[in-house]
Amino acid sequence: MYYSEETVQEVCAANDIVDVIGQAVKLKRKGSSYFGLCPFHNEKTPSFSVSPGKQIFYCFGCGAGGDVVSFVMNYENMTFPEAVKSLADRVGYNLPEVSLSEEGRAKKKEKDRILAILKDAASFYFKLLRSPAGENGMAYFKKRGIGDNIMQSFGLGYAGKKSEVTAFLKEKGYSDNEINAAGLVYIDEKRGMRDRFFNRVIFPIMDVNNHVIGFGGRVMGDGEPKYLNSPETAIFDKGKNLYGLNAARRSRKGYMIACEGYMDVISMHQAGFTEAVASLGTAFTPDHARVLKRYTEDVRLAYDSDGAGVKAALRAIPILRDAGIRTRVINLKPCKDPDEFIKKFGKDEFSKRVEEAEQSLCFEIHVMEKNHDLSDPEGRTRFQQEMAKRLSVIKDEIERNNYTEAFAAEYMMDSDMLKRAVEQIRLMGDTSALNSSTSHPPGSSEVKRNTDKASSGMAGSQKILLTLMCEEPDKVYKAVKQYLDPEDFSPGMIGTCAELLYKQLDEGGPKISAIVNHFEDPEEQRQAAEIFSAPIDPFISNKDKENVITDLVIKIKKDSLKRIAMEEDEDPISRTLREKRVLEKLEKVRITLE
Ligand code: GTP
Ligand code: MN
Repeated sequence: MYYSEETVQEVCAANDIVDVIGQAVKLKRKGSSYFGLCPFHNEKTPSFSVSPGKQIFYCFGCGAGGDVVSFVMNYENMTFPEAVKSLADRVGYNLPEVSLSEEGRAKKKEKDRILAILKDAASFYFKLLRSPAGENGMAYFKKRGIGDNIMQSFGLGYAGKKSEVTAFLKEKGYSDNEINAAGLVYIDEKRGMRDRFFNRVIFPIMDVNNHVIGFGGRVMGDGEPKYLNSPETAIFDKGKNLYGLNAARRSRKGYMIACEGYMDVISMHQAGFTEAVASLGTAFTPDHARVLKRYTEDVRLAYDSDGAGVKAALRAIPILRDAGIRTRVINLKPCKDPDEFIKKFGKDEFSKRVEEAEQSLCFEIHVMEKNHDLSDPEGRTRFQQEMAKRLSVIKDEIERNNYTEAFAAEYMMDSDMLKRAVEQIRLMGDTSALNSSTSHPPGSSEVKRNTDKASSGMAGSQKILLTLMCEEPDKVYKAVKQYLDPEDFSPGMIGTCAELLYKQLDEGGPKISAIVNHFEDPEEQRQAAEIFSAPIDPFISNKDKENVITDLVIKIKKDSLKRIAMEEDEDPISRTLREKRVLEKLEKVRITLE
């Protein structure tokens, strides 16, 4: 935690949300709220609301929402502490020195120390590359066509043949433990600590604030492994960081290019495509997608054109889609990767390919097509069924129909028949088998996605209830707490948020930003803000609200019962009896809001 809850509350209290948002968005009063055009999505009629009473905002078009701090975080692309600082500055509030718990202080000290080591190591590698000892490395980079400017801005370096960095860092006063914690060495049983990187060219990996958080090292010829990366450390999380994002975040092209490798990012930046990032060696994760979502809603994939690259793209597309990002796929044929393409055909040709990148849906269907023999009636049938399944996932009806018609025409199918097939699948709610016979390997992120989906209905219900509770604590919280404890909410973020909300409501009023501030990680802070900003129809009648809340309470309690039974390993008979009793009681639950 960076600032104490009291501090954040004081900063929020001094910044009325209507004033703050009013500086960025033209607002008009309508009833108890203000409305304007949403700054987070394109719209012509205002669906973005700001409530002075609750001090929160919410967009009925795109679902963006939160308190004054989350508005600044999203609007200015800031982290939570940055947003608090900016709001404090806005009203001339003097922030106290960051206050941390004992444990937090120790953790922060360790992280700062690792950052310092990595910074020193990076400048050591950087200098070595430019010294006579770095000749080989320099020759390698030159051979690959990397110019001085880009070498400089990416901080490229070279690791020599002996245990050099370790000796250098020890000399500077870092302990063995610290050097090890920074991921720069491995321990050899006989010879002790050895440099992890030797005889390799070095690519420093930086976070968005330009701090070095790890390294990648490439052999200069053939050799295994081709690339060696830092291990995960207290500050390096491979599933969250994107190579090149520190530069790409400033490109403001309106989209980002995601690729596979260090050299691809570097080649693209050198050719002027400064919007390129890479998810180094690990598969693209939902965290990667959420990080990108802060900067853009349009990602072009420039993955390798080989089978592995196509598979990786097929996995990344739904992950990006779930994060609310549109994806297109850049065709790099006849080359293997962007680096090769730019060398061979130049930046203008590459720019064309970026422009012409194929919509992810078309890409998916075209890959599907290749997996079936369309000249065989059976193959053609299976292809059509799969296509219908894929089309049925499109939420917007007009878009769904347009795509259905376009593909029917492309593959010379009866478009009414395809439409009926799509609607039927939608009615049955059967999209689970989606992609089952495309190239997704079992056990991949696809499987996880399906389980995520199964629980997302529950998560959505819990968010709505928590939002309602904090909006009308006197009525909704009072009624709900007779039936639900904080433990009835799902473990993890939602459970923690529920616990904090109950505590706050028992002690007085809800302070959403205090709950957000409870979390350290910006992504968790964002999730917390999201939990309390569920879409609520402001014009819902009291009667309807009571019905909705009753349903939610029953649904959440049932889910909680199931979870408890699974955790406690109760014998089936007594479990059934107990559940029956509770369910009978639940049937009678009626929430009234008076
Ligand atoms: P160049 O041959 O230098 O052009 O690399 P590339 O980017 O074309 O290589 P490739 O497509 O084989 O790999 C893409 C990315 O995967 C690399 O940039 C690395 O981040 C990662 N990678 C490749 N090989 C290895 C490896 O052996 N080990 C690890 N950990 N990562 C690798
Ligand atoms: Mn390459």
